[in-house]
Amino acid sequence: MVPGPTPTPPEVTAAAVLPVEDERTRAYADVFSRVVDNLRRTLRTSNDVLLFTSSMTGAFEGTLQNLFSPGDAVLVISNGAFGERWSRLAAAFGLEVTEVRHAWGEPLDLGRIAAAAAAPGLKAAIAVHCETSTGMVNDIRGFVSACAPLLTVVDSASGVGACELRTDDWGVDVVVGGCQKALMTPPGLAFASISTRAWEQHGQARLPRFYFDWDESREALRAEIPRTPWTPAISLISQLDVALRQIHAEGLDQVLDRHVRLGRIARAGVLGLGLRLFSPDEDRHSAVTAAELPEGVDATALVDRVLDRYALQLAGAQAPLDGRVLRIGHCGFVDEFDVLTALAAVELGLAEAGHPVRPGSGVTAGLAVLHRLDGRDTPHRATAGSPARLAREGQPVP
Ligand SMILES: Cc1ncc(COP(=O)(O)O)c(C=O)c1O
Repeated sequence: MVPGPTPTPPEVTAAAVLPVEDERTRAYADVFSRVVDNLRRTLRTSNDVLLFTSSMTGAFEGTLQNLFSPGDAVLVISNGAFGERWSRLAAAFGLEVTEVRHAWGEPLDLGRIAAAAAAPGLKAAIAVHCETSTGMVNDIRGFVSACAPLLTVVDSASGVGACELRTDDWGVDVVVGGCQKALMTPPGLAFASISTRAWEQHGQARLPRFYFDWDESREALRAEIPRTPWTPAISLISQLDVALRQIHAEGLDQVLDRHVRLGRIARAGVLGLGLRLFSPDEDRHSAVTAAELPEGVDATALVDRVLDRYALQLAGAQAPLDGRVLRIGHCGFVDEFDVLTALAAVELGLAEAGHPVRPGSGVTAGLAVLHRLDGRDTPHRATAGSPARLAREGQPVP
């Protein structure tokens, strides 16, 4: 129950042990092309999507290398650890960074962002979709319009596949994501969607690049037998193929609805336990739920104790929330009962830390959310396309 790497469905795990195929064959190109197509569907974009063998940070570096020249000015919006990291990353590549910094967990101030974006000479604005460090899901549509007409780059590491993301409708130029969070695949693959405007700016970019050169990737993608320019993590691509097919068999809208429901259960449970929410109590924040722990209960110790005693992994938080904030990740291969189990574990962790809790209070509040849902069968509809359901109904499992 951490926000990545997340658990993988059994079919995705099993795909890892198949013999490694030669990526230059037609058969493998079909798998690769299907992955790229399904990523485009998941991002809701008709833009090019390029796939890289690296963690997301690699694809972030590639984005900077492919869009900018030394000394270019960029605007970085932050309200948590990952937004702040983008500033360090851009500075490392010799870019001139203007930051619109918010307190961790504070919603984006679109007025401040618009004022900063109006400064002359900026080449792009960068923001994080789901700020994993706090659970806050930022208003990306608002960010894009506040920054117009600047080129926009969005880090959707833990957002894609868990939270609403409409790349083309919202006009996001570059979205970068990866496979180890809501896309239910072990870590090692990242991707970027690139708009026509971004390709145009790419034509002027002079930062050195090689491994992540978008031209090389696009050329290989458009080859007679589509592939990546360098040897990819072949087995991971096969695993991502299975995961994406499962997501689209369940239905992207249904998957996003499930995450909304998981967020509601998690937040209700946290409040039921008598804790304060760190992330706001709104449906948008559907990948990670952050809770403030009471005075005298240390998050790191609670996470360690729960892992040790119940083999359930929760997440603490990074400085400056270190020790004070507990995070429950609920993105990817997670269902309602996983979240209820996590709430039970948090309750036991609190009790063992000497904090008084009413037995069952978190789980009861979480269950009440399920009771309140329209139609008693709603929770099951969520898993309509799940492998277990398909197998039970004798249908082929993707
Ligand atoms: C919002 C966000 N950005 C960036 C990253 C870094 O990704 P990676 O570790 O795959 O490089 C993460 C991963 O935790 C993240 O949640």
